[in-house]
Amino acid sequence: MPAAILTPCRPWTGRRVVLGVTGGVAAYKSIQVARDLTRLGATVDAVLTSAAQRFVTPLAYEAVTGRPALTDLFSADGAALHVRLGQEADVVCVAPAGADFLSRAASGRANDLICTTLLATRAPVVICPAMNERMFSHPQVQRNLDHLKQVLGYEVAGPGLGPLAAGEGEGHGRLIEPWQIEEAIGRALTPRGRLAGRRVLVTAGPTRESLDPVRFLGNRSSGRMGYAMAQVAWRRGGQVTLVSGPSELDDPFGVDVVRVETAEEMLAAVTKHASEADVLVFAAAVADYRPVDPSARKVKRAEAGPELGIVMVENPDVAVESLRARKAGSVAVGFALETDDVLANAEKKLTKKGFDLVVANDATEEGAGFGVETNRVTILDAEGGREDLPLLSKSETAEEVWDRAESRLAPEVGRA
Ligand code: CTP
Repeated sequence: MPAAILTPCRPWTGRRVVLGVTGGVAAYKSIQVARDLTRLGATVDAVLTSAAQRFVTPLAYEAVTGRPALTDLFSADGAALHVRLGQEADVVCVAPAGADFLSRAASGRANDLICTTLLATRAPVVICPAMNERMFSHPQVQRNLDHLKQVLGYEVAGPGLGPLAAGEGEGHGRLIEPWQIEEAIGRALTPRGRLAGRRVLVTAGPTRESLDPVRFLGNRSSGRMGYAMAQVAWRRGGQVTLVSGPSELDDPFGVDVVRVETAEEMLAAVTKHASEADVLVFAAAVADYRPVDPSARKVKRAEAGPELGIVMVENPDVAVESLRARKAGSVAVGFALETDDVLANAEKKLTKKGFDLVVANDATEEGAGFGVETNRVTILDAEGGREDLPLLSKSETAEEVWDRAESRLAPEVGRA
């Protein structure tokens, strides 16, 4: 899900990013990355190879980062520029990373500024390959990528599947989208806590209950809050499954997404994963009722007459049903969107459904609730604690909720 609000926020703000750009037409996407990261509060040093400068100019990066773009290993800044860059970086990302760069990085070459910076840094490194599919699948390229991953511990993000450069058709090799590169960088910048390696299950979005083959009953949920919870869990190192009702949002990066329509389908999908999950987050706006007898054919006005009654039957409660099989020590987080008696209603849900935390908000408040990018929530816990958070982006709200959910997980045996 693209970071919708680009204001300084975790995990990017105050961090130093070296953004390497190598030769390839996808280099244009890295200008967007440099711009977004700067707006998210990072200090970005763009480093362009000479091949990159055939496609994009240093000036473009300077305009969006407000800092000089770097191109020369032997600059007037002194021969140790690469050492300074490498030492000060919190993360080094190369996007796009072409085949020649991968070969040089894998063999430890030091013949340009980005390769020398890689040798000088001990920060995490994220590589985003981009090239023609035939080149990408070549054993030489695959061997280089394996080496970068397995031996050097670099994170390789992408490539994606989709249209390649003009005339090259569709295939594997496309640079991932700017927001996905930003997420991969965000993950590298996020310290590993108790969530690292744990299984996380998130429900999100609305459900749709059929009236007939063309009509349904739904609700106004966009899925944003649940998608943000899934994305932040991935950034923190979780293995995340998102069970989502119909939503227009892109799949969160790195997350397994199971798309469903109805409450019953959501329960079936969630049940498959619930007993293995270390944290279960129920952010979906599940329909409490469904039409008891949806019509197999389109309901015709002439046949239905001036009034149309719909008899509804209760849906299962996905949270309650799936928590029956929960793992010992797991943490369950519920959401409560209310219009009246917000805290009292949220508290009832906390005890009745067996949640450890409930994130409550008021649907009538401006900037909170469905369809907006922000939220103002109160977090209630099973011990009676209450915390009011300020108006925050949904991504920041998710970070705050995860701070509290993560601290409730017991440290894994054998780990700090
Ligand atoms: N929930 C669920 N399955 C349902 C209904 C709710 O999993 N059929 C979960 C939601 O994902 C949320 C919590 O339960 O985490 C509270 O949802 P909400 O719709 O606010 O509560 P309801 O129990 O449906 O109560 P009401 O609609 O009467 O307020």
